[in-house]
Amino acid sequence: MDAVPIHIRLAYLAASILFIFGIKGLTGIKTARRGNQISALGMLVAVLATLAFAGGISWKILLAGFVVGGGIGAFLSVRVPLTGMPELVAAFNGFGGLASVCVALAELNRLVGTGTSTGDLIERSGTTAQAVILPVTILIGTITFTGSLVAYFKLGGRKLVHPLPGVLRHAAHLALLGAVVWGGYQMAAVANGTEAFHHAALVVTGAAAVLGVLLVLPIGGADMPVVVSLLNSYSGLAAAATGFLLRNEALVVAGALVGASGLILTKIMCVAMNRSLGNVLLGGIGDDSVADDARDYETVKSTSGEELAMLLDAASDVIIVPGYGLAVSQAHHVVREIGDLLTSRGITVRYGIHPVAGRMPGHMNVLLAEANVPYDLLKTMEEIDGDFRQCDLALVIGANDIVNPVADTDPASPIAGMPILHVDQAQTVVMVKRSLSPGYAGIRNPLFEADNCLMLFGDGKEAMTATLTELKEG
Ligand code: TAP
Repeated sequence: MDAVPIHIRLAYLAASILFIFGIKGLTGIKTARRGNQISALGMLVAVLATLAFAGGISWKILLAGFVVGGGIGAFLSVRVPLTGMPELVAAFNGFGGLASVCVALAELNRLVGTGTSTGDLIERSGTTAQAVILPVTILIGTITFTGSLVAYFKLGGRKLVHPLPGVLRHAAHLALLGAVVWGGYQMAAVANGTEAFHHAALVVTGAAAVLGVLLVLPIGGADMPVVVSLLNSYSGLAAAATGFLLRNEALVVAGALVGASGLILTKIMCVAMNRSLGNVLLGGIGDDSVADDARDYETVKSTSGEELAMLLDAASDVIIVPGYGLAVSQAHHVVREIGDLLTSRGITVRYGIHPVAGRMPGHMNVLLAEANVPYDLLKTMEEIDGDFRQCDLALVIGANDIVNPVADTDPASPIAGMPILHVDQAQTVVMVKRSLSPGYAGIRNPLFEADNCLMLFGDGKEAMTATLTELKEG
């Protein structure tokens, strides 16, 4: 490959710096929008620099790709509801992995007929890296693509299961990994463009594709957000590997940033659920299994929108705890209206946000921001948890596991040790949900039977709309 001129390298450096500042901006709610714009600017600089450097570009094809890809992206971003975001992210990750594979295969194609083997690249580049990078890019990119497709369908509620039981399953995974290693070795050993070379590349791609599917199949549907975050990290690694292949520094930096941030996010989610990554990847929780006693309650007290309105009106300090059901019922706008009304009546209203409330990182923050809830009212678990003792009313809307006290009391529980919001310490707790059904962990929640707990049964949006009407009329 031709040497990259200094002005192009400087442009890549500028793009990399913009990516880093962009990611820094994404760490805060107030700076997130700006962070996104800075990262987009970095991507524009990187794309323009690459176009300026690359010769023989077909502008028609480029424009077609821009229009088709950009059109699909814009259409999906506008059309997909917030509850469908995890699926969208899974699909985007998968396509990121596929793009890396396509670039790697195109690079292979470029070498066809030059008579070089991937092994020859070792001599050319003076390093073994390139011989390894090509099959590794294909491996990671393909696993990311097919694994993300499975995650996409599982998030959409499809019941997909692994076709093989325990030992056979591991044997199959090992055999596929062996095929990838063998194919990768062959790619390095034989000349590009030969039949043997094409076969080896096909073995690596095919085995990695099946491996991606099989690795994600046994993982529970509700654990998919963790898997998506991990696959996101893989797609970054695949892009970074492609960057090495093309000697494009901006791609290496961007890929490494995605790879590292995806891994960090995966770790944060696992810590917030008090589970190891191994436990998530081997399946267990979130596989739609429900404990036998999950719906056994004796003394549940139910309430109505009218009574809730009275309780809210009489309170001076209210903490609203949103969960997955808030997203499902799309109750966030009504909840914001209730919050505004109470604030205008001199009542202190804050929102307690658990890090894994909902089904994707930042799920509640995104929803409440969409409903224009002021950022400073959104409190993290660390900020708010100590305040439940003093609060008059904890209003829990569509949340279950993140407020389940067994996390503290039952070491045998699947959520044992998971940090929770201690809404049970509030003077009164009102739980808004449709039934006594369990949440994602599939377990019983003794809070429903607590003396200070009232259940408001119904769809989140309908229950909150009824409460708002009563508040306005009352
Ligand atoms: P869950 O424990 O899943 O509980 C949600 C509750 O919402 C359910 O019990 C359900 O009860 C209720 N609900 C569903 N639809 C509703 C509707 N239309 N109106 C009113 N209520 C409705 O949710 P959570 O408390 O937010 O906890 C999140 C869970 O997901 C945690 O266990 C967490 O570990 C897991 N998880 C989260 C993430 C991320 S990153 N957020 C990733 C992976 C796993 P009904 O059916 O009775 O209505």
